[in-house]
Amino acid sequence: MTAALTLLRPDDWHLHVRDGAALASVLPHSARQFARAIIMPNLRPPVTTVEQALAYRDRILAALPREGDGSDFEPLMTLYLTDNTPPAEMRRAREAGIVALKLYPQGATTNSDAGVSDLRKTYATLEAMQREGLLLLVHGEVTDPEVDLFDREAVFIERHLVPLRRDFPGLRIVFEHLTTREGVQYVRDADERLGATITPQHLLFNRNAIFQGGLRPHYYCLPVLKAEEHRRALVEIATSGHPRFFLGTDSAPHAAHLKESAAGHAGCYTAPMALELYATVFEAAGALDRLEAFASHYGPDFYGLPRNTGTVTLRREDWVIPDDYPFAESARIKPLAAGETLHWKLA
Ligand code: DOR
Ligand code: ZN
Repeated sequence: MTAALTLLRPDDWHLHVRDGAALASVLPHSARQFARAIIMPNLRPPVTTVEQALAYRDRILAALPREGDGSDFEPLMTLYLTDNTPPAEMRRAREAGIVALKLYPQGATTNSDAGVSDLRKTYATLEAMQREGLLLLVHGEVTDPEVDLFDREAVFIERHLVPLRRDFPGLRIVFEHLTTREGVQYVRDADERLGATITPQHLLFNRNAIFQGGLRPHYYCLPVLKAEEHRRALVEIATSGHPRFFLGTDSAPHAAHLKESAAGHAGCYTAPMALELYATVFEAAGALDRLEAFASHYGPDFYGLPRNTGTVTLRREDWVIPDDYPFAESARIKPLAAGETLHWKLA
């Protein structure tokens, strides 16, 4: 049995780190694990301008450990796409080092009320993004109340992604947190301009996890966990060595009391042990030798960024995921799969 696994330093291509005191609590966990991360812009208010993104970047850098593990973490900034994002801002965004814009269909998830109401309204901006080489990151779910929650990804593909890709053949798109067999097939059969991230929770758990032994809010995220056939399709593609599917945790911290409430917030917190969770999936699939490419090669390759230098090492060691961690001023945060035993530990 492999006792240690050394990988090129990985990146997280989809991450929420929040702001203020919450940022200070969660950022060191990601910075310890990953060299870079794509930072989601769904703050309140959302990060819609280049100035806001640069100021947010400064606050993230200021919250990093001063020295040692994680001190050299690099946040990759994104803007929140709205109906009114000015096309002229796209050139400035590229020049300022912004890498992508995030499309939240209005009302699809946490802090998405400023999201896009109609894709047509963003066409001039998408045109400018395509010209400037900015990526479009997609929360791929329709918000139509008539569409069942579990079908929202598949319907998004037909209604929105197919026409979008036809109209913008040069735009590079990442289908974030892919959750269904239909999504896997669509991305796999597309060309090299469409990639996808996959979270640890969608690889490890099916929707039964939300209801097992009682309602478990720490397994609730959006897109919601799906049925077992979908989980299997995700595991199969993630561990197959396909270069357009790569790591994106979607670690989405919320104080425990806000998740354990009458309208619990969506989001799984995985930053402290993300790499170990992925290693668990790859080992179960007999594909540990493919973990490095998924975690450290395919993401930068798709984004057109250099791969990292340096390595991280996972050791075979049993440890129990803690029940909670301190969060913001006086709250606690509960990680995904608290109390479960992992067999890999980041050295
Ligand atoms: O579960 C989720 N949480 N899904 C999202 O799309 C947003 C995220 C958050 O920001 O909490
Ligand atoms: Zn997210």
